[in-house]
Amino acid sequence: MNFNITSDFVSGFWNMYVIVLVLVSVIGCGVFLWMQDKAKFVPGETTGHVWDETLAEYSNPLPNWWRWLFYGTVVFSLVYLALYPGMGNFAGSFGWTMRGQYDQEMKKADEQYGPKFNQFLKMDVAAVAANPEAREMGGRLFQTYCAQCHGSDAKGAKSFPNLADHDWLWGGSPEKIKETIAKGRDAVMTPKGTKPDMDGEQVKDVVHYVRSLSGLSADAARVERGKALYPQACVACHGPDGKGNPEAGFPNLTDKTWLYTSQEAEMVNNVTTGLTNRMPAFGEFLGEAKVHLLTAYVYGLGGGQAGAAAADTGPMAVLEGNTAKVYFATGKADMGAEAQSVIQGLLDLAKANPNARFAVSGFHDATGDRAVNEELAKNRAVAVRDALKAAGVAEDRIELRKPAETTGTGGNKEARRVEASII
Ligand code: HEC
Ligand code: HEC
Repeated sequence: MNFNITSDFVSGFWNMYVIVLVLVSVIGCGVFLWMQDKAKFVPGETTGHVWDETLAEYSNPLPNWWRWLFYGTVVFSLVYLALYPGMGNFAGSFGWTMRGQYDQEMKKADEQYGPKFNQFLKMDVAAVAANPEAREMGGRLFQTYCAQCHGSDAKGAKSFPNLADHDWLWGGSPEKIKETIAKGRDAVMTPKGTKPDMDGEQVKDVVHYVRSLSGLSADAARVERGKALYPQACVACHGPDGKGNPEAGFPNLTDKTWLYTSQEAEMVNNVTTGLTNRMPAFGEFLGEAKVHLLTAYVYGLGGGQAGAAAADTGPMAVLEGNTAKVYFATGKADMGAEAQSVIQGLLDLAKANPNARFAVSGFHDATGDRAVNEELAKNRAVAVRDALKAAGVAEDRIELRKPAETTGTGGNKEARRVEASII
């Protein structure tokens, strides 16, 4: 779109029409004034009008201050119209536009405040959330861009989620929160789930079953019947146990937090008609630095969950048959301080099979750049080999093998592993 054009006239006629009308009026005013000056002034002469029998009006000239003020406005108008837009499509010699002024002001603000926003970009979300200045800036951004939907206390309202609790539709880790804010989210529940042929009674039955999952009042007979319908109608999204799936924004139906309602009639209605909901995307509009600050603000409201890296506190190594699996943190190839306990499982394997050889293969998760990941997978395998060597397993018993497919299967954490198997 060309923002330098100040009006949307599609035909040249209206453009000229406006220009002529404006110029004729302004210049006409000037000419009229000048003609008034030319009129001869006769002291004592009246206009000839008489009111209330005796009230007459002198035909005096305009006071000078008034006359010059009037000329001044005419000159001002002409100068203004030459410099600024006002006559049809004529842009004015300054080339000023509202859009241009906005852009300029935004640019100035970016120059002034940009470095302030950017300084936090290098810090991780948990650290930003703990920084008082960053929290204040994030809070102000939140009041401007988010409060109209999520409330000024971020506690939400019906259909607008509470961001300050521990219940997350889309996940409460820094990565997930950032993804939500930057890219937006769309939630859709199809009418009657995946079983559109359900009649009203059946919907009621399945709703009663769902209510029973979180301890809401429910009719026992309906719960029984609803339980049989649930796998056909609801399981695809809310999962076999009703706990939902934050990867896709399917809510947990077993907790006591309701985005919409815990009232039976309304619940039946929602399941019958389906639900659609949207969190708008802010990434492009606000830019990375502001999204980062907002992520930290939301994260710090109380419900933030540790990120993928920090959440990797499951078993560091497990033994499954003749295969030992060693798990790594996101982006990491070192086993850190736990190396000793991590390789214990491997050593047990080595001891139990004194003549066997080991094949060691590294895997990575599906996120990020492939080439970097493959390198990472290899380094992980090397780390495990070195740990085995350090623990006394002879080097010629260990063989590094690049698996045909380095992208590990299972969840991301499961995928970031090294497998050492006896061959
Ligand atoms: C126009 C209304 C609207 C605005 C403005 C809005 N949101 Fe949302 N937001 C929503 C809705 C609706 C959802 C729920 C989407 C769903 O049902 O899955 C949501 C979801 C979220 C979630 C995910 C919550 C969860 O439980 O996983 C986060 C985080 C979030 N918004 C943060 C923000 C931030 C930060 C801003 C300001 C930059 C913002 N929102 C502005 C409507 C809005
Ligand atoms: C296609 C996927 C899908 C299916 C199938 C589905 N749901 Fe949903 N359901 C959703 C989504 C998505 C939401 C959240 C809507 C939102 O975020 O605004 C939701 C929300 C709900 C809610 C409201 C939760 C709250 O916190 O207020 C209830 C209750 C519910 N579903 C029950 C059911 C029942 C019962 C069935 C089976 C008849 C079902 N759903 C089938 C996707 C599904």
